[in-house]
Amino acid sequence: MGAYALIGAQWGDEGKGKLVDYLASQAQWVARYAGGNNAGHTVINENGSFSLHLVPSGVFQPGVTCVIGNGVAVNPDVLLEEISGLKARGVDTSRIVLSDRAHLIMPYHVSLDALEEAERGDAALGTTGKGVGPAYVDKAARMGIRAGDLADLEAGLLPRLKSVVELKNRTLTKLYGAPPLPLEEVLDRCAHWRQELKGLIRPADVLLRKALERGETILMEGAQGTLLDLDHGAYPYVTSSSASAGGAAAGLGIPPRSIQGVIGVFKAYSTRVGSGPMPTEMTDETSDMLRELAWEYGVTTGRARRIGWFDAVAGRYSHRINGFTSLALTRLDVLDGFSSVKICVGYRVDGEPLDHFPSNAGVLERCEPVYEEMPGWNSPTAGATELAQLPTEAVAYVRRLEELIGCSFHLISTGPHRNETVLLERMI
Ligand code: IMP
Repeated sequence: MGAYALIGAQWGDEGKGKLVDYLASQAQWVARYAGGNNAGHTVINENGSFSLHLVPSGVFQPGVTCVIGNGVAVNPDVLLEEISGLKARGVDTSRIVLSDRAHLIMPYHVSLDALEEAERGDAALGTTGKGVGPAYVDKAARMGIRAGDLADLEAGLLPRLKSVVELKNRTLTKLYGAPPLPLEEVLDRCAHWRQELKGLIRPADVLLRKALERGETILMEGAQGTLLDLDHGAYPYVTSSSASAGGAAAGLGIPPRSIQGVIGVFKAYSTRVGSGPMPTEMTDETSDMLRELAWEYGVTTGRARRIGWFDAVAGRYSHRINGFTSLALTRLDVLDGFSSVKICVGYRVDGEPLDHFPSNAGVLERCEPVYEEMPGWNSPTAGATELAQLPTEAVAYVRRLEELIGCSFHLISTGPHRNETVLLERMI
């Protein structure tokens, strides 16, 4: 009972979808608290293979209510399409709740994301182009439109929407030379969303607090990763929301002290999509091989992910930010067959050692990794369900990561399916 946060401990794409699907059977609620449809969570189970962008990954578990929290930026068209795609494949979508406080990604946010990126030129952030950043900008600027606003379209929302759309159109036309968005079109979209979403929009924070009072369990599903966190990532090469544990309570409206555990999800190596520093990045045959072997391409954008060895300096930093109570390691099987594996145990900047993750992206860019090399393993970890099935060298690798991060792995994922999992200790 209580709330458990499941957090991406690196640059996102750690395999959170599989873990949420795996752990959801022990919860009554699964709740997304940050990000938007920039996320792509893959779940493979007896129903097939699914890519989820907004619907929480607990949707396949009978009896679990899935909440899209106030901290999520929601593109209603994407949500509706995702729900109808799930329905068409026989998945029960009747227990999805959208917080009335969640901000909506409006058509002008998507246009502005692309235009702003083009304007940045060589300094582009490599955003996913889904309008997520511009929607959070409007939230902070108190110009956002929330799901709950749809209920009072004509009297409540229309006057505000009119002034927001006028301002956005001035930006689109005068600054970028792009066509304006007719107010009627935006209003029609809102009327359509009100009609289609009315059964879903509810005071999610109230429902979650009541669930906690009844002693139920909430799995808080993180999106992106700690190193992309707006405050704690390598700014400005970050996403626009609080991906780390600190954002979980705020993004759902439940008290921080109801969080009983913080699960950090690490991939056995590093990946990153988009621009920005990544100290262990490799651009050689090893990274090419790894990318193809592990199919490291973005679920949302299809972009090739950048690949590197495990960065334990960043891992330790991530643990400090989140205060993990347990860890999960994913994709260990991808490293099967390597003659040796490397771990970055420190950085050197301008010839000097640096033992922490710097706040400045320029300094991080100049960080050279200091590697420790460990023997690889010849027998497979793929599909293992017990620790005893893992080769000694693989276990040694996991133990070394634990030492360097400062927290223990309670779960090791050895493949994409639910059963390809070594559970060492109960997590929730
Ligand atoms: P935005 O979140 O679309 O604004 O993109 C900002 C940065 O975060 C870019 O580098 C994206 O590639 C990255 N990013 C956003 N969402 C994800 C994700 O779910 N996984 C990995 N990277 C992401």
